[in-house]
Amino acid sequence: TTHDLHDSFGRSISYLRISVTDKCNYRCVYCMPENGVPARDHAELLTAEEIARFVELVAGEGIRRIRLTGGEPLVSHRIVPLIRSIRAIPTIEDISLTTNGALLPRMASDLRAAGLDRVNISLDTLDADQFARITRLGRLEQALAGIDAALAHGFDPVKVNTVVVRRLEQDVFGLARLSVERPVHVRFIEYMPIGNEETIGACKNEPHCPPGVSGTAPELHPEAWDESDIVPSDELRAQISGAGERTGLGPLTPADQNGPSGAGPAQYWRFAGARGTVGFISAMSNHFCSRCNRLRLTADGKLRPCLFSDDEYPVRDALRAGDDEQVLTIYRDAIAHKPQEHKTTDGTARFMSQIGG
Ligand code: GTP
Ligand code: 5AD
Ligand code: SF4
Repeated sequence: TTHDLHDSFGRSISYLRISVTDKCNYRCVYCMPENGVPARDHAELLTAEEIARFVELVAGEGIRRIRLTGGEPLVSHRIVPLIRSIRAIPTIEDISLTTNGALLPRMASDLRAAGLDRVNISLDTLDADQFARITRLGRLEQALAGIDAALAHGFDPVKVNTVVVRRLEQDVFGLARLSVERPVHVRFIEYMPIGNEETIGACKNEPHCPPGVSGTAPELHPEAWDESDIVPSDELRAQISGAGERTGLGPLTPADQNGPSGAGPAQYWRFAGARGTVGFISAMSNHFCSRCNRLRLTADGKLRPCLFSDDEYPVRDALRAGDDEQVLTIYRDAIAHKPQEHKTTDGTARFMSQIGG
């Protein structure tokens, strides 16, 4: 029998985000330093068996939805067997994955067969040169082919994640329009300060600051996060809605607020007659802490009650020792210490690629 575990502010914790690796085949300027993050010793990382065992244990504590993230989860060779093991746990209702999409054309079929329900694919621009500058190692066609593969293999819903950074001047209306012809849900995410807390803001325009991206945003990288780069969701929505009206699509109107896959951080809108929706994740301008239902597990086996807090609860040793009671004690402790809200301006000791968003 399962019961729901509530935190000290009455929130029911039913959604676990698991970072399966902090490696990535891209180096997005807002997420990772140009040279990547130092590789971790293999022994520090949870195995697929340990992750699956953890999910089995917390399924008995009310966890019903699992999201697999990274880094890039598809660079992990253990991803397909891991999905299969999680699918075998009867009370897990939903398994989703957040990916840059590059490996989806190759892997979508195996992922689907293993039991993955749905995918969220990152896409920050439809301009090929800008895509290459933002991801440093990626090509636009890869992400587009990834979205096509996701739709073709029956993942539902398919969401697109766009991190909006003012300095990048992305064509947000062009991205929003993807939701018209195709059943995709395009979500615009406010740029968040996740990175090294000692250096966030510090190296902006400093001489030692490496030229992370050439062209439009020479100094953009996680340590150079700047508040002026946040585009508040309200402003963005007005911009997209206005462009819709000018081009005959009509304004954005509110869509089902539960979204296409049950309550999450986004607020959903749509163009009349569109097959998909347009969502806004206002992590900075209007945070959603009061309805936060989630906990995170890092690739090195630490529970993180909040994206923005470096307070972590290590479960790896207890898992490795097969001490289920100890694992659950640590899990309950992490939930009991889930903060009511986060401060969003300090940055974190880990980069986004080491947390999984
Ligand atoms: P679903 O709604 O289940 O599809 O997933 P999601 O939108 O929560 O997951 P996804 O991995 O696609 O994340 C989209 C964006 O939301 C990323 O930028 C995440 O960092 C951000 N995000 C997800 N959960 C939280 C959270 O609890 N707090 C904050 N501040 N941001 C979050
Ligand atoms: N702010 C907001 N979103 C971010 N992501 C990565 N870094 C940041 C950041 N600094 C997004 C990715 C991916 C999701 C997991 O997190 O684009 O869609
Ligand atoms: Fe990789 Fe995703 Fe981070 Fe880009 S945002 S570097 S694709 S983990």
